[in-house]
Amino acid sequence: MIAKELRQKYLDFFKSKEHAIIPSSPLVPENDPTTLFINSGMHPLVPYLMGEKHPLGKRLTDAQKCIRTGDIDEVGDTTHHTFFEMLGNWSLGDYFKKEAISWSFEFLTSPEWLGLDKKRLACSVFEGDVDASFDEEAYNIWKNLGMPEKKIAKLPKKNNWWGPAGITGPCGGDTEMFYWVGDLDKVPESFNDDNDLWVEIWNDVFMEFNKNAEGKYEKLEKQNVDTGMGLERVLAALNGFSDNYRTELFWPIIQKIEELSGKKYDESPEIKKAMRIISDHIKASAFIIADGVSPSNTERGYILRRLIRRAIRQGHLLGIKNNFTIEIAKVVQKIYGEIYPEILGEKVFNILEEEENKFRKTLENGLKEFEKYLSNPEGNYINRKVGDELQQANLYPNDDTANMMFNLYQTYGFPIEMVFEELEKANIGIDNDKRTKIESKFNEKLKQHQELSRTASVGMFKGGLADNKEETTQLHTVAHLMLAGLRKILGNHVHQKGSNINGERLRFDFSHPDKMTEEQKKAVEDFVNGAIESKTEVVMEEMTPEEAKNAGAEGEFGHKYGDKVKVYSIEGYSKEICGGPHVENTGDIKGVFKIKKEESSSAGVRRIKAVVE
Ligand code: ALA
Repeated sequence: MIAKELRQKYLDFFKSKEHAIIPSSPLVPENDPTTLFINSGMHPLVPYLMGEKHPLGKRLTDAQKCIRTGDIDEVGDTTHHTFFEMLGNWSLGDYFKKEAISWSFEFLTSPEWLGLDKKRLACSVFEGDVDASFDEEAYNIWKNLGMPEKKIAKLPKKNNWWGPAGITGPCGGDTEMFYWVGDLDKVPESFNDDNDLWVEIWNDVFMEFNKNAEGKYEKLEKQNVDTGMGLERVLAALNGFSDNYRTELFWPIIQKIEELSGKKYDESPEIKKAMRIISDHIKASAFIIADGVSPSNTERGYILRRLIRRAIRQGHLLGIKNNFTIEIAKVVQKIYGEIYPEILGEKVFNILEEEENKFRKTLENGLKEFEKYLSNPEGNYINRKVGDELQQANLYPNDDTANMMFNLYQTYGFPIEMVFEELEKANIGIDNDKRTKIESKFNEKLKQHQELSRTASVGMFKGGLADNKEETTQLHTVAHLMLAGLRKILGNHVHQKGSNINGERLRFDFSHPDKMTEEQKKAVEDFVNGAIESKTEVVMEEMTPEEAKNAGAEGEFGHKYGDKVKVYSIEGYSKEICGGPHVENTGDIKGVFKIKKEESSSAGVRRIKAVVE
């Protein structure tokens, strides 16, 4: 089975169970400041899982693009990816465990759908703890479907609990399904979490809780279902591959890397790993760029930069000398262009090429710096081999050595493996024992640094979405008023290019070529404050995207819409397509709107930071 068929089968199956098919959201979350990328099918649906009404009803299904940055370092094995697609179905306060599990089972095993051998299946359910009890209901549903009890594992929160997608939000216990990818006559009698031949293929989450800012689980008003099936894994399993990279979602990329490097995927484990990393990272980068992110040193841009540079570095290890990321991106476009046309076009190539050139330059500078270290007579970093003789053995992996390497890495992105390669080129003797010692010192430093930055980013994200729900909702409405104000003052070329709202402030990107003048900023502030003072009702209507367009509603950036959308109108001020939530009346916005900062975000895009105080 090919990916296209599997996606379609999944959507058709849930359509036959009265689910509305919705399009994938962009990878950049629209209004969740607690995460950088959409990391699951449910992520764009958080407002609806929290109780907002969805315009297409209570049963939804889709294939959603996802990025999981937590897994970057795992990439290189057979199943972890930074970019992947998640097939999912949702009940928004509609059906619950019985239907969810029975339908999962039917889709997996019925000959009409995937027709998987039941013998190869196992599952797990939540064993219960202080927050929620053992999921006996799910256990019994599986038993009644004929799952042998030994193949229904009871596991703790660590395994069988999912969410929230960010720091706060909807979550709950889950039941997971596993597929045996080993020989059919070797299927174990019971499920064992430690055996890699049991591959997790599907997760049905019963979302009944909201994790709040204090880390407490509050019962949600409605019981929801959120399921997720990793497309790449299931595709591999269906085709009898124990390596996702053998599927048609990766294999043409691997072949291109083989061609560019003159090496074979199966040559060695190291080569395999490098090829996997390159294909995963450039694919992820292409999708991230397509959704409007450029490489930088912060947040999303930093992740993108890391992905591209790590891929280039792996290319270097494979002996690819010239710029190559565009060649890979071309193959990615071929694989995905039909389903995700946003990745087509020159933008992806231009940004990759620019970053590749920048990295090259950086490495050159790093190399110069490194040569300075080499020629520093006081630097006790290395031994120099002169002829056959190793000069005074003064290299020891002390703090200076680690500092030197760490500095090169931090400032120039110069990886430690490259330092060793350069040492070798400079004819400098360094034995394995010393190398290991230097590496471990370096890793210690890196770890310290990462811990520091992780603590800083957790701090940054505190006070996120759910703990300031009211303030956030107010700022949502303010964003609509501000966009309307910007369009009125600056012109109709202004459209939203992204937004990020938390309880304290609104950050908003919009298309406009020039810096705003003080007068313009003041005029926009007056427009928004006028709307707040006017105490106008905020009215929501549901209509088709076409009707919304004809009604003059402003649409959001790069969005594919479903068959029906919500349009929020503030008579005399704003009309915009949006998922909500919003205040009921502009008079509910408590305070005075103020633009704190207006700056460039990227070419042709300005960024405003604003508050209500
Ligand atoms: N949100 C659940 C997951 O990602 C379904 O596994």
